[in-house]
Amino acid sequence: MTNPGLIEVEVAVGDRSYPTLVGDGARHALADVIPERARRVAVVTQAAIGIEVDPGIDHRVFVIGEGEQAKSLSTIEDLCRQFVSWGLTRGDAVVAVGGGLVTDVAGFAASVYHRGVPVVYVSTTLLGQIDAAIGGKTGVNLPEGKNLVGAFWQPHAVLCDTEVLATLPPRELGSGMGELAKYHFLGGGNLDRLDLCERVAACVRIKGEVVAADEREGGIRAILNYGHTLAHALEIDGAFDLRHGEAVAIGLVYAAELGHRLGRIDETRVAEHRRVVAAYDLAATVPAGSDPDHIIELFSRDKKAIDGVTFVLDGPNGVEPVLVEDEAVLRAALAAVTNNEGIS
Ligand code: GLY
Repeated sequence: MTNPGLIEVEVAVGDRSYPTLVGDGARHALADVIPERARRVAVVTQAAIGIEVDPGIDHRVFVIGEGEQAKSLSTIEDLCRQFVSWGLTRGDAVVAVGGGLVTDVAGFAASVYHRGVPVVYVSTTLLGQIDAAIGGKTGVNLPEGKNLVGAFWQPHAVLCDTEVLATLPPRELGSGMGELAKYHFLGGGNLDRLDLCERVAACVRIKGEVVAADEREGGIRAILNYGHTLAHALEIDGAFDLRHGEAVAIGLVYAAELGHRLGRIDETRVAEHRRVVAAYDLAATVPAGSDPDHIIELFSRDKKAIDGVTFVLDGPNGVEPVLVEDEAVLRAALAAVTNNEGIS
């Protein structure tokens, strides 16, 4: 497949390997990546996305609701029933057009419809392009918690259209930058020196390599949660007005302060975390009113905690899961992101 002007990154997951095309106007390559045998395509999107795509064959648009409540099993049932009514068959395909919520929902519907139909993602948010659309995690929420029901279902292809990122509200784009900042410390280096298209492609390449090494998250894939333990604690119950990437940015600096206190990284490396987060105009302190006791309690409840409080931390061997048993260190690092005192 050649698409001039687009960067192609392969996610190498054996016989389910797929191309990710990154660049301005990538959505216009959709017809090129639809599975050959598909006769028709169910396009799943949200009303607010407002991006039309042309799969080049018979298609119909299915609109799902907005917000986390649309990420539910009842949306999956609605979609699958509508697919049946329209006559979508096993040989056809689903196309998701939107951010992480749309790709998670449409991907899960595709994974269970007729026990699995191909899905192509046209990812329209920065957060989606560098995370949710890559790696095959799909799923929905239950009233008991987020992403509790899902499947690993690799897409057939992913289109990351950097042109549409210009239409995102500034705070949504900023949130994506918080997730992007994470990749600086997963081998990305000085990503901020690249243009946006190259930066997205670099993040896709890093995530793709991690997923290729550990598709089902038995080990190394956990490093993609760098900065996420504090972020999840801050996001729980929506207690603060924080977007995901904003919370991750604070979580990255917290992880650096923690890693430093555990002797894993030096002050220069902590300063590099602070520099990168500041370069993306993101805050590095927990919101005013955060309760340290509550945060420490939430750490051990985080679903990514495997045995005690397992953090993903930077160190001499790079970023890796580390069991942290000393609560005083957790608190000291928290103080460093509470009052901006930095390294002490
Ligand atoms: N969002 C982390 C992962 O895909 O594993």
